Parts: sequence; C-alpha cells; structure tokens
Amino acid sequence: MNEFESRRISFFEQMSDNSLAIFSSSDEKVRNNDSEYRFRQSSDFLYLSGLNEPDACLVLVKTEDAQKSILFNRAKDRLEEIWHGYRLGQKAAVSDLYFDQAYQIDELLEKLPLLLNGIDTIYFPIFQDEKLEIVLKEVMTEMRGDKRKGVIAPHQFIDSLPILHEMRLIKSEAEIALLSEAAEISAAGHIRAMQACRPGMWEYQLQSEVEYEFAQQGTRDIAYNSIVAGGENACILHYTNNNRQLRDGQLVLIDAGAEYQGYAGDITRTFPVNGHFSEHQAMLYQLVLDIQVRAISQVRPGATLFDINQNVIKQMVDGLIELGIMEGDPDELIAQEAYKDFYMHGIGHYLGLDVHDVGEYGTKDNPRLLEPGMVVTIEPGLYISHDADVDDVWKKIGIRIEDDVLVTESGGDVLTADVPKSINEIEALMADA
Ligand code: GLY
Ligand code: MN
Ligand code: MN
Repeated sequence: MNEFESRRISFFEQMSDNSLAIFSSSDEKVRNNDSEYRFRQSSDFLYLSGLNEPDACLVLVKTEDAQKSILFNRAKDRLEEIWHGYRLGQKAAVSDLYFDQAYQIDELLEKLPLLLNGIDTIYFPIFQDEKLEIVLKEVMTEMRGDKRKGVIAPHQFIDSLPILHEMRLIKSEAEIALLSEAAEISAAGHIRAMQACRPGMWEYQLQSEVEYEFAQQGTRDIAYNSIVAGGENACILHYTNNNRQLRDGQLVLIDAGAEYQGYAGDITRTFPVNGHFSEHQAMLYQLVLDIQVRAISQVRPGATLFDINQNVIKQMVDGLIELGIMEGDPDELIAQEAYKDFYMHGIGHYLGLDVHDVGEYGTKDNPRLLEPGMVVTIEPGLYISHDADVDDVWKKIGIRIEDDVLVTESGGDVLTADVPKSINEIEALMADA
C-alpha cells in the first residue's frame, strides 16, 4: 500500500463514525510585487496527501458505508503550465496519489455541502487555518439555512491536529530513511564548510559553501535559515544576518540543515576560523562536547528530554564552576537558574517534516517518555557574551554542538555522526584541507 494512503487510513481509524476531516495546502506567498517565495507545502497536508502544490484541499469522509479520500486540486491548464509549470490534475491524483476521487479546487464550495449533509462531526485545524475556516463558515451557514429543505448540518467540531501530530511524531521506516538522507546531506554541508573556512571570509560566503554542498548532494532546500555566526555573533541564538567577516582567532558556529523531500536535518558545529582552537576556546568546547556526548548516550525509550536536560544543567554548572566562570553552590545556582546567563535554551526538540517538529512534550511534572521512532535533536550550548560578569578571556564565545538522534528499541542512533566534533578530528580535517 502507498505510504500516503496508509497514513490516511490510520487517520480514518481515529475519526468518529459519520465524520469528515478537511485539510488545506499552503498558499503561494508574495515576496514583492509579482515575485513569490519558493513554495513550501504545509507539512500536515504533505504528510497526508503527498501533493506538493498550492490551492488544494484534502477531504476524508467516513460514513457507515465507506471511507473516501477526496482531493480538490488545481485543474490542468495548458497556458498556466507553459508559464508556471506542471500541475498534477485530477486524473493523476487518483492514479498516482491513490485518492478515491479528485475534483477541481473550484468545485469545493459546491461539493462540500453535499459531502457534509448528514455528517455529525467535522475535524479541522481549529484556529490554525483562517482561510479554511472562512470556507467552512460559508458552507455551514448555507447548510443551516437549508434545514427546511431537509439538509442536516454537522454539529460537532474537533481539532484534527492533535491526532495528526501524534501520528507524525512516530516516524515510519520510509520517514526514517528520508530523515537519514537529510542528516547525511546536512553533514556533508558542514564538512565542506570546515574545509573551506579561512580568516577573512564573510559569514554568507561560508553559508554558501554549506548550501552548495546540499545542492551537490541532491537537495535544493534548506530546512530553516542557516546560521553562520563568527565570534560573538554565536551568542545571538537565531543569528541569520550572516553578514560579518570571519576573523583569525574566532570560533564560528554553523547551525544549518538540509531539507530532503520535506524532511529536515538540523546540525550545529562550532570550530575555529583558522583551524586551531585556542587554549580557552578548547576548554569551553570540550565542556560542551562532553555534555553533548553524555546527553546523547541517555537517549533511549523511557528517557525524557526534560531529565536529560536536568543532567545537562548539572554537568554545565559543575563544569563552569571548575573553570572559575561560575561561583557558588551548584544546587543553589541551579535553583536560581543562574546557568541561564550561559545556557538559556532547551536541550533539543522533535525533528521531522518541521525542524521543530510536532508532538506533545508533556509537562515539567509529567514529561513525555521517548519512544522508538521519535527523532530528536541534542544541542547543548554555552554562550558567554561581551558583558558577562566573567574574566575577559572567556568573553565573546558561543558554542553549540547539535546532532539528530533516532530513538531505537535499545537506545539512540545518531543520524548526523558523519560530521567530526572532537577537537582533534576537527583540527585534522581543517589541516588536511
Ligand atoms: N536550527 C534550529 C534549532 O536548532 O532548533
Ligand atoms: Mn535544533
Ligand atoms: Mn539547529
């Protein structure tokens, strides 16, 4: 059975009797005047449909007699296709994407009231898709107005996303293969950047080396805006300006991931612009690396990102006290969250079609247990800004090391292991280049 079809079937299994679910595609977005941003499909829509086109809606109808997957998508149009490119159309939606039926998107407003007549429940992304809600409101208003003609409008509305996002959280074999490919391509980009880096380069030039390699390895998409941050810029967590010159003696932090067939890689490496860690850089780097390696070793079914992070915080505070960067009682420093001056983000997140992928994390008191098939990032960091209350030798240094880890039956499988991260390996790779 086709992967997308089998996902729709598992969604059907979780729908109540006599219900209908509706999801819409992303729209094209104007960048300026008549130029558009590169189209990126809604991850939810892509997951269930396999269709990478705008102006489409997916409808799942579950009645006593049947389960029907119906696609509403753009009509084939010779002139539009000459100007803007191929469209799947309705015939191929049925033959290639295994929909039971396909109609032109222009028919949605006409067909939806017929499909909904007598249906009890509608599943849709409540408060998360304004355009779809306008359509549903129009259809509901029409159906309610027609009740004296024997039309029965739905009366129950359920958010579809918690169901879908639980499905997306646990990756199938096919998804793991795509995430592994995204991870390997991302790794190749980071290796190329380490080899290409020289003092005097601009951050955006180093960015282009990473993204060049993504393209050479088979994908033109990035999973998020690449961060290439020299020196103190690494202390800006979401630095994407990438417009400063890289200087001899600085570290550079690269957080970049390829997107492969919709699936994200997410890797961070930090390395010396000139190929050699200074003594103080090496001390800080080794602390983050030891923390990261230990955190990865704790990934297994039944562990939680929350507990892993508590251990990271403990190890970070102990390490910073040892280096003389923090002073005081470790337990008190942790209770006061004093470490947040230096490590202010979480240990990681789910990874999938979205870089910060969907799925619940639980609460602080009841954190979610990791399960086989989840993919998480492990990304501790240490950021010492120019105004930190520490000795000058430590200032203006930002370090993060991030890998992508598949939770397996027995532990964690690092998908991004190809990029070196030990001091010796990084220095050797850069020296060879
Ligand atoms: N690249 C975004 C993150 O690491 O979460
Ligand atoms: Mn990440
Ligand atoms: Mn990242």
